[in-house]
Amino acid sequence: MPWRKKWIDPEEYEDKEELGRVLSKRAYEVWVSEVMLQQTRVSTVIPYFNNWVEKWPTVQDLAEANHDDVLSVWKGLGYYSRATRLHEGAKAMIAKSAGASCALPSGATELQEFPGIGRYTAGAVSSIAFGEAEPVLDGNVARVLSRQLGLYMDVKDKKATDVLWDMADRLIKHASNFPETRTSEVPGLWNQALMELGSTLCTPRPRCDECPIQSTCRTYSEGKALSDKRQSVVVVPDIEDACSLCASLDTEDLVAVSEDATNDEPPRANKKRKAATKQTNTISQYFSVGTPKSNVETEDEEEDLDSPPVEDSRKRKLPAPTGESKSISTYCSLFPKKVAKKKAAEEDCVRPAKGLLASLWQFPQNTLTASHKTPQQRKTSAQQYISDLDAGAADMSKARFVASFPPLVHVFSHLRLTMHTYQYRIDADKAGDIELTCKGPPTRKWVDSKAMDNETLSTGMRKCWDLVSESL
Ligand code: ADE
Repeated sequence: MPWRKKWIDPEEYEDKEELGRVLSKRAYEVWVSEVMLQQTRVSTVIPYFNNWVEKWPTVQDLAEANHDDVLSVWKGLGYYSRATRLHEGAKAMIAKSAGASCALPSGATELQEFPGIGRYTAGAVSSIAFGEAEPVLDGNVARVLSRQLGLYMDVKDKKATDVLWDMADRLIKHASNFPETRTSEVPGLWNQALMELGSTLCTPRPRCDECPIQSTCRTYSEGKALSDKRQSVVVVPDIEDACSLCASLDTEDLVAVSEDATNDEPPRANKKRKAATKQTNTISQYFSVGTPKSNVETEDEEEDLDSPPVEDSRKRKLPAPTGESKSISTYCSLFPKKVAKKKAAEEDCVRPAKGLLASLWQFPQNTLTASHKTPQQRKTSAQQYISDLDAGAADMSKARFVASFPPLVHVFSHLRLTMHTYQYRIDADKAGDIELTCKGPPTRKWVDSKAMDNETLSTGMRKCWDLVSESL
């Protein structure tokens, strides 16, 4: 990973100006890499990161960049608002740091004052670049900590995130010998070790037998106790004893584990199955008779299906654990508590969500309502919308319908969007009759069809254009 470099020890620099310069560059690189790594796997990020820092080696360079260039270099990485926030953040830093040798502040609190820098990114930059004992908590770290602590909670729940941030903070401060030691290489190494453990071994389907911190893992020891109970009917204490935070992990979940073992999703409780198995659910039953042999054997084939997209463990082909270690890993895979994902909102419209795709060019578009259910109603709505558009000197009320195209479905994390594409023609006596840029808001421009390849469009818009351009 090109952003992984030896920690810069301020003690080794006599020239404080020089120290400011190297720290500024390092912190900027860590910041860029962390933003790129959000929702994106390491192997995808590497070439984008290299390209980015070659083009804009310092915060100053990024601050002075043209925003269209920034979006263009980001093209293909997705979630474009991340690029905009990086750019905005860089401009704000340069504006604020006038005269300072390092453009980025070292403290997590100060870093969070900049646009687009949240608690996670601030913690990562502060610990990795500046060596401060500041915690990080992303999905991977939350999973590792939930298991280490045996916290059976939904990590998206505010109560759970408060506990986990607090734990992450206490752990890093302890590991870094804070406050006696103020800065060192330990915080960055610690945080990155947690992140990496969460993305390689302690994944939704963990490989507990290879885990270097198995001996301190509460969930591992619970799984082991349960597995041992299967071997010799030993009475184990109730695992939820005295915990006021955890949801109850009832035996029905454990039955679901054995039945879900052939799915590519991590196991979770299943209502239908629960109803069918209710009579016989006990922990001992799961570990003595509740793990059908066939499941144990078939799961191995799915090794590469275990992880969500951001994780790099998909391609790992390692010998599958057997017997007890498999039971333990299966138990650990229940942590943290899974909650059913909200179904993506369905919206039948021609305009993607604002914000997420801000700054990308998009075709004029209009959100459809319940009264636009038939193709004719949609076509009439589109004609009306186009006719009313203010597009400079072009008289849009004269736009002539040319064609409509089959609907395209584009799925965002929070939205399932159905896009209906229409093509119109506007006659003009001379091309020069149409002003190319129409002052906004919203800003609009006319683009020659040959120049469309170079425009920065969202993936959804690009699909619409591909439909139209194929028919030209
Ligand atoms: N995931 C996100 N940031 C990371 C980092 N710095 N190291 C390892 N994995 C990461």
